[in-house]
Amino acid sequence: MSNSIHLNKIHIQDVFTFLESLPNDYIDLAIVDPPYNLKIADWDNFKSKKEFLDFSFEWIDLMLPKLKNSGSFYIFNTPYNCALFLNHLKNKKVYFQNFITWYKKDGLSYCKRRYNNNQESILFYTMDAKKYYFDYESIRIPYNSVERIAHASKKGILKNGKRWYPNQNGKLCPDVWEITSERHKNKINGKVIKQNHPTPKPKEMIERMIKASSKSGDLVLDLFSGTGTTSIIANQLGRKYIGCEINKNYIDSSLSILDIKTKRSKNE
Ligand SMILES: C[S@@+](CC[C@H](N)C(=O)[O-])C[C@H]1O[C@@H](n2cnc3c(N)ncnc32)[C@H](O)[C@@H]1O
Repeated sequence: MSNSIHLNKIHIQDVFTFLESLPNDYIDLAIVDPPYNLKIADWDNFKSKKEFLDFSFEWIDLMLPKLKNSGSFYIFNTPYNCALFLNHLKNKKVYFQNFITWYKKDGLSYCKRRYNNNQESILFYTMDAKKYYFDYESIRIPYNSVERIAHASKKGILKNGKRWYPNQNGKLCPDVWEITSERHKNKINGKVIKQNHPTPKPKEMIERMIKASSKSGDLVLDLFSGTGTTSIIANQLGRKYIGCEINKNYIDSSLSILDIKTKRSKNE
């Protein structure tokens, strides 16, 4: 079956038809950036919360068997929706690892009756409790306290009776990620510039996930590809990729597409 699958391409196809076409136990790492139901585009506009959750649980359930036992997956969404996804996933044979907070330095909305939304969430799961790949060394981040670390580099710091020296590559990556959103990065004189896609994810964030949770040559699933950020980074890092996106106009021109017409591709 896998011989007929076209790798290193974005499949222009509805997510359900696409997932049904994949073999089971196939994917090493899935990075999934689905609709959030925030009404920011046609594809993000569901009639009701129930319709959104039915849609979300359907693709989640179709995706899980496609992952290898050694595989991992990440799912983006609002903190509230991630909590609902987590509740759905608690009955599946998957292993919760982290509820990552992405501090975007840019609000999703303009709130005056509650706190302004400044974060998105990312669920990180593995398919096995122990046998999964995680390269914590490749995703170290700079220490915050520059002076203290400069001092410790020379003489070390006494911790529990032992002398501790900082790691030259930085500290272990925490579960709060402070990464500027693409929307915020691309502002001109403080004004939001309309982009080809409303919600491309920051490249450095996707790079962190791919480096941590896959090896060179592994197959990365880029579900709901959008511009194809995950596929581009996977390719740059020497991973294979396969993506799915319903709107071919979003895809970055550096990526090749496979345009498959299906009955469920309602946006075409
Ligand atoms: C949040 S965006 C992904 C953005 C992407 N991570 C990037 O960096 O550009 C979600 C994408 O899912 C696509 N989409 C929505 N419903 C879909 C469906 N049923 N099947 C396939 N793609 C769909 C939308 O067109 C949109 O581009």
